[in-house]
Amino acid sequence: MNNVVLIGFMGCGKSTVGIRLSYRLRRIVEDTDKLIEKRAGMTISEIFDARGEEGFRQMETECLKELCTQTGERIVSTGGGLPMREENRALLKKLGCVVYLRISPECVWERLKDDTSRPLLQCENPTEKIRTLMEARAGKYETAADLIVDVDGKDMEQVVAEILAGLAACGVIKEQTEEEIG
Ligand code: S3P
Repeated sequence: MNNVVLIGFMGCGKSTVGIRLSYRLRRIVEDTDKLIEKRAGMTISEIFDARGEEGFRQMETECLKELCTQTGERIVSTGGGLPMREENRALLKKLGCVVYLRISPECVWERLKDDTSRPLLQCENPTEKIRTLMEARAGKYETAADLIVDVDGKDMEQVVAEILAGLAACGVIKEQTEEEIG
C-alpha cells in the first residue's frame, strides 16, 4: 500500500505534520487516536481509565487492521506507543512508507509540560517517565521506520519540507513543482 505513515514519541508533531502533509500532497489524513476516540465515544484518557492501557493497545491494533483494508493513498498519523507491538510494526509496513519523527526527551518535556491529555505522563515524575519510555521505544521506532526525520529545533514547515524531500528521494512521491505546492 502506498500510504505515508507517521510514527514517533508523544509531542513529536505527528498530528500537525500529518494535517500539513495532507494539504501539501492532497491526500486524506487519518489519525489513529482520533479514529479510536470516535469509535469508543470516549477520550484517550477515558479509555485508559475504563479499559486500561492493554484495552487501548488492543484498539490500536484493530484500528491498524481496519486501515489496512482501505484503498487510496492517505496520510496516517499514529499514537506514540503504537509501534511497540511487533504485530503493529508488521501492519505499519503493510500500510506504506513509515516516517519516524525523532525528538529528544528534553524537547518532549518542553512541548508537553502543560499538557494533561497524555495519561502516561500524568505521574509523579514525568521527565523520568519520558526518559525511560524513550529508552525502551527508540530502537523499535528505528526498526519500523523507512525514513527518519529529526525534529528538535525545527519548525513545522522545515519538518514537512524534509519529509517531502525524503519521500521524493525514496520514490514514494514525485518531486513537487512550485505550482503544485501552490
Ligand atoms: C501514547 C501516545 C498518545 C496516545 C496515548 C498513548 C503513548 O498519542 O496514543 O496517550 O503510548 O505514547 P500521541 O503520540 O499522539 O501523543
